[in-house]
Amino acid sequence: MNIILMGCPGAGKGTQSARLQSAYNLQHISTGDLLRAEMASGSALGKQVAEVINGGNLVSDELMISMLETRVKASDKGIIFDGFPRTVAQAQALEIMLQKYNRSITSVIMIDLPEEEVVKRLSSRRLCKKCGRPAATITQPVCACGGELYVRADDAPESVKHRLEVYRKDTLPVKNYYQHSGKYVEINGHQTPDQVFEDICSVLEKVK
Ligand code: AP5
Ligand code: MG
Repeated sequence: MNIILMGCPGAGKGTQSARLQSAYNLQHISTGDLLRAEMASGSALGKQVAEVINGGNLVSDELMISMLETRVKASDKGIIFDGFPRTVAQAQALEIMLQKYNRSITSVIMIDLPEEEVVKRLSSRRLCKKCGRPAATITQPVCACGGELYVRADDAPESVKHRLEVYRKDTLPVKNYYQHSGKYVEINGHQTPDQVFEDICSVLEKVK
């Protein structure tokens, strides 16, 4: 299975990818995580990337596609694409890339979430420096794994507002790209994480 998980910032792509990864033995490739790892390395590229991400903009298609190809090439499992493609150009490049590695997309799952909920979720999100997962409660001092918690710079209200604008302008057209492919399904993201997961699994059980 090769799955694309789409959705606006905060829709729950990362949360659901972590669950799907264990349930279906898939590789989770989050382009946001790849970029944050580059930022954490302190490289010159990481510094350029940080400016783009923290301002809530998209990095270039060219950079993103080449970073992704390295991961796809090295993977021997089905893949969950989290946060990619984010532009129609990336969707077209992904199609060509998957053909090259004898893969194809099984399902495109859009997690829908109202914008008011996005702001609420992201203003209280704290992530673990060690395992990368969001903290389950707003009061816990450290992650369940013991790791230190931090706030993403692009979760500042101004960045979130801009990320949503970029999403509407550049990423929603990707929905139109897949909508009539016969693989596209929308899931209600405004439910508990367990309910969202259940809905995604019932889609995947049909195409497994
Ligand atoms: P990326 O890291 O992909 O960020 P994003 O798409 O904005 O989405 P998030 O990671 O913020 O949210 P999520 O949907 O994963 O939600 P989560 O599960 O964490 O990208 C960051 C940046 O990198 C981009 O802005 C861009 O600059 C760059 N970039 C990345 N990919 C790119 C590409 N392809 N091309 C160009 N640039 C790219 O959940 C959010 C919060 O809600 C958490 O606190 C969680 O605990 C909580 N939550 C989750 N589900 C539920 C639920 N059902 N109910 C209640 N709370 C929930
Ligand atoms: Mg994420």
